[in-house]
Amino acid sequence: NEVYANGLQNIKPPISFYPLDWEAAAKEVLPAESFGYVWGSAGIRETDDNNRAAFRKWSIVPSRLVKADFPNLKTSLFGQEYEYPIAVAPVGVQHIFHRDAEIAAATAAFKEKIPYILSSASSTSIEDVATANSTGARWFQLYWPSNENNDITISLLKRAKETGYSVLVVTLDTYILGWRPSDLTNAFNPFLRPDNIGVELGFSDPVFRRQFRERHGKDVEDDRGTAAAEWAHIIFPGTSHSWEDLKFLQDHWDGPIVLKGIQSVRDAEQAVEAGVQGIVVSNHGGRQQDGGVGSLDVLPEIVDAVGDRLEVIFDSGVRTGADIARALALGAKMVLIGRPYVYGLAIAGEAGVSHVLRSLCGDLELTLHLSGIPSSSSKHLNRSVLRRNV
Ligand code: FNR
Repeated sequence: NEVYANGLQNIKPPISFYPLDWEAAAKEVLPAESFGYVWGSAGIRETDDNNRAAFRKWSIVPSRLVKADFPNLKTSLFGQEYEYPIAVAPVGVQHIFHRDAEIAAATAAFKEKIPYILSSASSTSIEDVATANSTGARWFQLYWPSNENNDITISLLKRAKETGYSVLVVTLDTYILGWRPSDLTNAFNPFLRPDNIGVELGFSDPVFRRQFRERHGKDVEDDRGTAAAEWAHIIFPGTSHSWEDLKFLQDHWDGPIVLKGIQSVRDAEQAVEAGVQGIVVSNHGGRQQDGGVGSLDVLPEIVDAVGDRLEVIFDSGVRTGADIARALALGAKMVLIGRPYVYGLAIAGEAGVSHVLRSLCGDLELTLHLSGIPSSSSKHLNRSVLRRNV
């Protein structure tokens, strides 16, 4: 409705409404290393390709003469109602994409009434993002330091809790960055840049600062290079935790905990057993492990196994309203938007992120409306609207 009422373009510079243009537009404005980092996937991108291919295996079959108004897009998770069934995926080091970085993305999310998930690899502090996002919904994503750095984990959780992050998202697939040829070829690690702009969240942590001073007899500002390398090693320790370790997080976080990176029924069952409140069916946009399954391909079996026992969130490969609709129809309660909003951020900062989020919501709204689906709740949007293509 808004597009018809207010005209098609009100952003300078103008941004395409065609989602597949955003990547090319971002490539034009970004340094090659930054573009390679956001576009990059593991190996020869088979997992990434499978993510996209998985959507094409399902089509939405419309119903006619369904007398219904514009669809209701609200969703409820963890006792909280959200305006739209999407959230902004955690994405680190946003300074390499735009000078306004996480502040721009969090502000756009807040204005568009979409939850913002702050990455622990952020180039902006937990507190500054909370201020920018003020009354918006915000969740905190943890890259989980190994057990010998539990003091830092506790400090991060405490900071997030004190500044109003309501849900803890624990990413399980990234205890080390994947084999990404684009970054390897560019010799690019965003956490080890000479200007060290990628590590502010760590540099602002009081426990990390104190421990650094004890170790080196100087402040992080006095040796940013060493401090950045040490922080990167803390959030990407190189080794994984075990299921037993989850108890520690449950003891130190009193809100919902969501495990991000689940790709199998077995792990989803383990998540239920561990007593967490949600999972994100995700393969990190194919950035971590190549030769993997399309994330949407495993969603139905995971929903069938655990969907009534915890909240199932989905990401990896979502590019359009129809993609969001298909993931919801297959049982996800919420869908995370990854690369598309980062492209928007690169193209036009806060306005670019808003444009991408609004476009996706508008596309979703009309896709459902024109399919005769009155709401995004599972009552109306479920497998009965889908046809599996052979
Ligand atoms: C990510 N992702 C990610 N995930 C996470 O848990 N913590 C993080 O810091 C990051 N950082 C990050 C940086 C960049 C540049 C990208 C593209 C992605 C993964 C992200 O949350 C999400 O799972 C994927 O982006 C989803 O796949 P698509 O939508 O990008 O295909």
